[in-house]
Parts: sequence; C-alpha cells; structure tokens
Amino acid sequence: MKKLLTVAIFVFFSFVSFAQNDITSKAKAILAKMTLEEKIGQLNLIIPGDGAVTGSVVSSNVENKIKTGKVGGLFGIYTPEKIRKAQDLAVKYSRLHIPMIFGLDVIHGHKTIFPIPLGMSASWDMGLIEQSAQIAAKESTADGLNWAFSPMVDIARDARWGRISEGSGEDPYLGGEIAKAMVRGYQGKDLSSNNTMMACVKHFALYGGAEAGREYNTVDMSRIKMYEYYLPPYKAALDAGAGSFMSSFNEIDGVPATANKWLLTDLLRKQWGFKGFVVSDYTSVNEMVNHGIGDLQTVTARSLKAGLDMDMVGEGMLTTLQKSLTEGKVSLAEIDQACLRILEAKFKLGLFDDPYRYIDEARPAKDILSTDNRTAARNMAAHSMVLLKNDKQVLPLKKSGTIALVGPLADNRRNMLGTWVVAGDWKQSVSVLEGIKQAIGNSANIIYSKGSNITDDTALFLKRVNALGVEAEIDSRSPEVMISEAVAAANKSDVIVAVVGESANMSGEAASRADIGIPASQQALLKALAKTGKPLVIVLINGRPLTLVWENEHATAILDAWAPGTEAGNAVADVLFGKYNPSGKITATFPRSVGQIPIYYNHKNTGRPFDGTGFPKYKSNYLDESNEPLYPFGYGLSYTSFEYSPVMLSKTKLKGEEKLTATVTLTNAGKYAGEEVVQLYITDPVASVTRAVKDLKGFQKVLLQAGESKEISFRITTEQLSFFNSDLKKVWEPGKFIVHIGTNSSHVQSAELEWNK
Ligand code: BGC
Repeated sequence: MKKLLTVAIFVFFSFVSFAQNDITSKAKAILAKMTLEEKIGQLNLIIPGDGAVTGSVVSSNVENKIKTGKVGGLFGIYTPEKIRKAQDLAVKYSRLHIPMIFGLDVIHGHKTIFPIPLGMSASWDMGLIEQSAQIAAKESTADGLNWAFSPMVDIARDARWGRISEGSGEDPYLGGEIAKAMVRGYQGKDLSSNNTMMACVKHFALYGGAEAGREYNTVDMSRIKMYEYYLPPYKAALDAGAGSFMSSFNEIDGVPATANKWLLTDLLRKQWGFKGFVVSDYTSVNEMVNHGIGDLQTVTARSLKAGLDMDMVGEGMLTTLQKSLTEGKVSLAEIDQACLRILEAKFKLGLFDDPYRYIDEARPAKDILSTDNRTAARNMAAHSMVLLKNDKQVLPLKKSGTIALVGPLADNRRNMLGTWVVAGDWKQSVSVLEGIKQAIGNSANIIYSKGSNITDDTALFLKRVNALGVEAEIDSRSPEVMISEAVAAANKSDVIVAVVGESANMSGEAASRADIGIPASQQALLKALAKTGKPLVIVLINGRPLTLVWENEHATAILDAWAPGTEAGNAVADVLFGKYNPSGKITATFPRSVGQIPIYYNHKNTGRPFDGTGFPKYKSNYLDESNEPLYPFGYGLSYTSFEYSPVMLSKTKLKGEEKLTATVTLTNAGKYAGEEVVQLYITDPVASVTRAVKDLKGFQKVLLQAGESKEISFRITTEQLSFFNSDLKKVWEPGKFIVHIGTNSSHVQSAELEWNK
C-alpha cells in the first residue's frame, strides 16, 4: 500500500513538473518574439478607474496602452461585456495578441457576499470556507475575472489594525489551514477551467505586524517570531499551490517588502520553492520613495532585482526599466525572468488557448447570486457567529411575545456586507429586521426602534468612516429622542435585541482605531436599555475584536455576528431562534482594554510570570488591568453544554518517531444537538529557545446529539513538537511535553509525557 502511494505521488509530481516544463517552454517561445517594450508591458498592472481605488490612480490613456502591448493585466473591472472589450484590445490589436489577466479584490465572495474572513475563520470549518472560495470563484469567473487578490493570510495580534477583519486571526496553524482551504476553493483541481481562478496570497509579508496597529506603519520583528508565528500561513498557501503572491506595503528589516530580496527571492523562491509570480501592492513600488530608499527609478530597479514581477498601478516599471537597463542598473535576464513568470501564469489559466475562456455573457444570470449561492452564504454566516454570553439561557429566543428590536444596525442593509466588497451590492442584503420578520411570521410582535446613530462624532470619525460613501447616517432626531423611543419600545416588550457595533468600513484597509469599543452613541443607548431591566440580547456587527467589558457585565446575552454578508438577517435569525445552534469560536483574542494590546494566547511565559493571584510587585502584570483577556482565543459558547473527560494518552514515554494518540471523551450534556470545536494545544516547557505557553496543534469540529458522548482522538507526531531554533532550523528537542485538549485556549484538560530521541 505504502509502495503504491509512493508510486502515485511520484507520478503526480512528475506530471506536475512535466506540465510546468511544457508551460515554461511555450512561454519562452513567446518571450523570444517580444521586444523589450513588450516585455516591460507585461509587468504593468493597471486599474482603468471604476473599481476600488485605494490609492492615487495614475493610469491614463489605458486603451492605447493595451493596444500597444504596454499592459499585462487589468484589475478593478468586471462583467463579461467590459472584460471582453478590454481583452479585445489586447488580443485583436496588440502586435503579439497576448491576452491580459483580469484581477479583482474578491475577498469574501464576489456578489454573493460571505461573512468577513475573520468571521469565516471563527467557524473553524475548512469545508465551508473552501466552499465559500469556490462559490466566489464561480461567480467572479462568470463575471469575466480569473485572478482573486485573496487569500489575505496576515497574522494579526492587534485589534486596532482595521485589516484584522480580512484575515484569520492570530494563530499560525489555524491560519495555515484556512489559507490552504481558500486556495483549494479558488483554484480547484484545474486552474485552466472556466470556473476556477488564480489565488494571490497577500500581503507578503508581516503586514499584520504594523506598530501600534496603525495602518501602513513600520514592522520590526525578530526572525524567530516571523518563522514561528507570522510566516506559516503564507507557506501553507504556497504549498496548496497558490499561483501568485502580493508584496506588502510594510518594511522588513529596514527594506520595504516590495524591494526586499531576502523576502522575495531568498525565502520565497529559494527556501520555499515558489514558482509563480509576485505582484506589488497598490503603488507599493512608488511608495518606496516615501519610505526613503531612493527615487522612482532606483526603487523600481531594486524591486525587480529583489524578485518582484508585476507593478500594480504605479507604472514605475513601465516608465523607468528601459532607462535602468541602458544604465546597467537591471539586466535583460531580470526583465525576461519577470515577464516569463507572467506569461506562465497566463498559460496556467488557459488564456493562450482561449483568451475569452472566462468571458461568457450567459453565465452571470445563472451563476451569480443564485439561490444555492445565497443558501451557502446563509449557512456560512450562521456557522461563523460566536455566542459570547448567554445568561439564564435567554437564547434561543422563543417565537412568541413581543421583541424590541433596536439599534442603528438593526434595520440596516448597507452595513451587513462589511469591508472589501468591490462587486457586492448592499441592496441585495437582508437586514436583521427583515430576517427576523421572515423567521417569526405572525407568531410574535416586533417593535423596531433605531435608538441611536452609529456614531455622533461628526467632526472626525464620521467623515473618515463615510469616505467611501454614506454608510453611517446622522438621524434628524436628537440622540435623547431616539433613546427614549427605544426605551419605550423596550418597556412594552419581553426581550430586547440590540443590533450594534461597527459600520462596514470602520474596519478594513485604512480603518485603524485607537479606541475599539462600541461607539459612544450606541453605548449610551445600551446603558439606557439595560436600565429597563428587560433581558438584553446584543447582536454585534463588527469587523474586529472589540472591548466589551461593560457589555459583558450588563447584557444578558451577546452574539457576535461580525459582518455576516448578503444573507445577514436570515443567518442572525437562524441563530437567535435556534434553527442553528451557534458553534463559532473566536480566532483573535478580545482584550479587556486597548492597553493590553498586543494580546494573544500563544505568548511567552517571561522570567517573572504572574499567576493571576494577589497584587505582587515585580511580576509581569499591570497596576490597573488584569493580564487576562475578556474572551480568550478559541472561545465561544453553544446553546448546549459540552463536558470534557481528562486527557488519555496512548503512552506517556515515547522515543524517536513513535506516534502518540491523545483522547478525550466529549459529552453533550445539554438539551440541544450542537457542534463543538475541540482544540489541541501543546506546551514545550523546556527548550533551547523560549517557547509559547501553548500552541494550537490540531482541532476537530464535531456534532453531538443531546446526551451523546464521543471519543475524540488526535494523532501527535514529532512534527507537532517542532519549532524554529536560534539557527532558524525546524527541530524538536527531547524532554517533557504537556498535551492540552479543551473548549478554548484557556479552558483545557492537560496530560504530561516524556518524548526522547
Ligand atoms: C490593498 C490590497 C488590494 C489592492 C488592490 C491595496 O490597497 O492593500 O489588499 O488587493 O489594494 O485593490
């Protein structure tokens, strides 16, 4: 059997490398016919101007550039009609008829919008996450696209950073599993088929490490931290076969990623073996002038030499490479290399066989926003929601009596999709009010009241939040009038459901926040509602972990719904009324206060650890705040309750490459069927370098009927014991290990063992 498997693997890899060789030789044949200008043209990626514009648009005269072979790809446009028109210019008019590649920020769905990625990650459901990317690929290829600027796999430990919403949180193992699922979803088994697209792993690298959580800020990080915690998801995406990478805006070791040779060549290509192409981020080549490493010609030459292949928007390559070649600052071989990689990508996508492969005017009507796609988005959204609190089992709600539905995000379609929805139309989304009405029919009464504005801070906050269009409106009524109307509704009701939190672009790119609480206007509303003494259920709409100490103390229940996407209201209703029993678990720690940030579960012990008791001096703690988060990584409740037995190990003394099995018995001790994410962590208490207090090494999502018990086993190998040592070598060192299995990173059952070489 083993032999058969080895032969199968050999045949598979021989086939892959044969296919790659074949593509390379075909691409080389085209390269041989190209002029220098045409080669440089392939390195140019531009945005014609009616898509998402996150920087200054510098392209003009786009039509003429395409016709004269000065454009390798476009992004920011979609629909078969528009893309056909653009592709025609390249294929019919340019001298060598080289097709263009068409990209877009398809981040969490194309037109059927799924929850924001941070929300999807909370499902811990790789099958559903893969399916979301597959549907996104089906919809976007139906719209003429073939390249998704996703997955975003940046690890983030700082909830002030707005783009934490676009990733999978703080853990490298979970982040890596999700990265692989997304790449599988987009690229499928055959990249050249007309319903799959090329993934672009971003932002390479370490973008989530921006100092103080401030967007585009400096990153400065030790190699050990990079290798152990920040790089694994990029590597996982590469191993899953991702066809392209995007360089990040930030610097690494004093050199911006876009011109960082260590990053783009030594690590990505030489150590990791990446064979695809690397595109810059939006004008990140030009921005190196601001970083202070030279003028446009210098930084562009540096980026090419470092291993960058394609220049997004800034046209530094288009306008300076020829001069740099003449002056000997870059070589023809370097230009050829970059061009070859882009031609190869186009071959992989099947564009040379048929430049119109992804262009079919009949597809949007059947493939986009179909009932099936919407059902999948609703299911994904329900699975992504996290029950943070549920006192007195107030949830699930009964479909009877009177419900006061309040809050500025309750009767609100506009903010349900969250950040980065270039093609998503908020008018297609279902508000929470609509979803609840649909779910209860005539069996209960609803009194709706807005209660507050999303924010009353018109001077600063609102202007920045509304920069992309009015998503947070100011009501003509005064805050006092709005609150008293909501309180009156609450007084007439049996339960209050308050839908509060952040508007869509309060998180995402260029949306860092120094205060990550619910905005003051909504807090005032919540405080007034709490005073009524009625059960208060908070439904949070948010793009990041928030500080919720007051809310956790005073609300009866809190359901974190993130930005749930097109089917928002239906999915919220599914969970509130118990059609789906929540199973989400947070993937980024919720701090008690901003002062604790960066806060993450896999921290080090330090030389003076604080065990949480008393008020000792000279311990690693704060004078005015606990070390503990409000909700730890992996936390989330269910309508049922799960009990864990102690951990049973198949052995407690092991040697060499032996394998270990760790088992717990999980019991559903409550009244409802439900899913639990069983989490495996390992501690390596003594090693040659300091290790985290624990690291996630496995998880399983299991469904148990009420009263059912099941044995859950994890196979543990030395791979899960290994780490990067001071020489950046992945090793495992013998000695004692602690295996933990539990419901979240803070609540686990533990067992010790010894593993020797
Ligand atoms: C973002 C990228 C995005 C690109 C293209 C940039 O501002 O950082 O994530 O893919 O714009 O829209």
